[in-house]
Amino acid sequence: MEEETRLIHAGKTDGLPARTVSPPVQRGSTVLLPNATALYDGTLGYGRAGLSAQFALMDALAELEGARDIQLYPSGLAAMTAAILAVLKAGDHVLVVDTVYRPVRYFCDRVLRRFGVAVDYYDARLGADDVLAQANPATRLIVLESPGSLSFEMQDAAAIAAAARTRGVLTLLDNTWGAGRLYKPLAHGIDISVQALTKYVCGHSDVFMGSVATVDAGLVDLMKASIQDHGWSVAPEDAYQALRGLRTLATRLDRHGESGLAVARWLAGQPQVLRVLHPALPGAPGHDLWKRDYSGACGLFGLVLKPGSPERVEAFLDALKLFGLGFSWGGFESLAISCDQQLNKRVVPVDYGGPLMRLHVGLESPDDLIVDLQGALDVYAG
Ligand SMILES: Cc1ncc(COP(=O)(O)O)c(C=O)c1O
Repeated sequence: MEEETRLIHAGKTDGLPARTVSPPVQRGSTVLLPNATALYDGTLGYGRAGLSAQFALMDALAELEGARDIQLYPSGLAAMTAAILAVLKAGDHVLVVDTVYRPVRYFCDRVLRRFGVAVDYYDARLGADDVLAQANPATRLIVLESPGSLSFEMQDAAAIAAAARTRGVLTLLDNTWGAGRLYKPLAHGIDISVQALTKYVCGHSDVFMGSVATVDAGLVDLMKASIQDHGWSVAPEDAYQALRGLRTLATRLDRHGESGLAVARWLAGQPQVLRVLHPALPGAPGHDLWKRDYSGACGLFGLVLKPGSPERVEAFLDALKLFGLGFSWGGFESLAISCDQQLNKRVVPVDYGGPLMRLHVGLESPDDLIVDLQGALDVYAG
């Protein structure tokens, strides 16, 4: 053979030279089939569906979620929009919790409506009967997020799921806060459990990914068909990182939860603080539901300051040294944002009584974080 041919075929590896703890990062669009029959017999034939690292991650996430099937998407938002699209058609109606992550609302308003799906938003504080009272014969899906983005309203997801089921309506829950570990949506009757793996599963603020978990065989088929039809795919390196994060998820969440609660308790006693919106804090909104259904808390919660000007809110944030100012959460680092500018799209106005802030408590010492917050609250007090 000519050298140009030998260079193409040399260096092939059939089988792994050694077994490692984690899966190999197999890169490949082309998958070589063993024989002609395998071309069309349903054998994995193309790398977009995932290779060793993606399959190992899907297996591990199925274990975490108690799912029959996991599909992976290149971001949490993509997982939400893909799952919603997979079960809806023109003429359907969807009920979405008003506190949903804002980009999901944009998707519903701009994309679903354009394709003939009617969208209504419901108050996150409503019980199951009142939510279902807003359904109509065209309602196909209820989208929940619990606790709600930015303001941490807890929903009785199990009751909503049970009531929806009797009406033939599907439920989908964004469980990024529960991370598949603190709350198990599928075990509580939710049909579709979605999480932004970007947050706690990946855990290091450097990978985007999302997952959709289902048990029902019909839904599994719908999600598999949808991922094929839309062509979503995640990179093997990213899947590897997500799997690596998953290995330490439980340990990290324990620490985020303990530290978050310590900081929340301290904040609740500060004169500049009106309310702490932390579902695991006794007396906070939604605490009873959290206690009933959750095995722990993560590091994300809300905080309402006593009324103060926007300039003072900015001064509070700018005075923080350990808390970075950033829109994400779930990583090892502490973060803070102000939220009021994000609430204007909601259809149910809620007066929180003062500036609404969101904190993510990372893996630093909670004592150091408290010192940092004390300094910023002093600045806020002027
Ligand atoms: C509750 C919630 N769901 C979904 C997402 C989307 O995740 P991603 O950034 O991976 O698209 C986010 C991101 O902040 C979020 O906070």
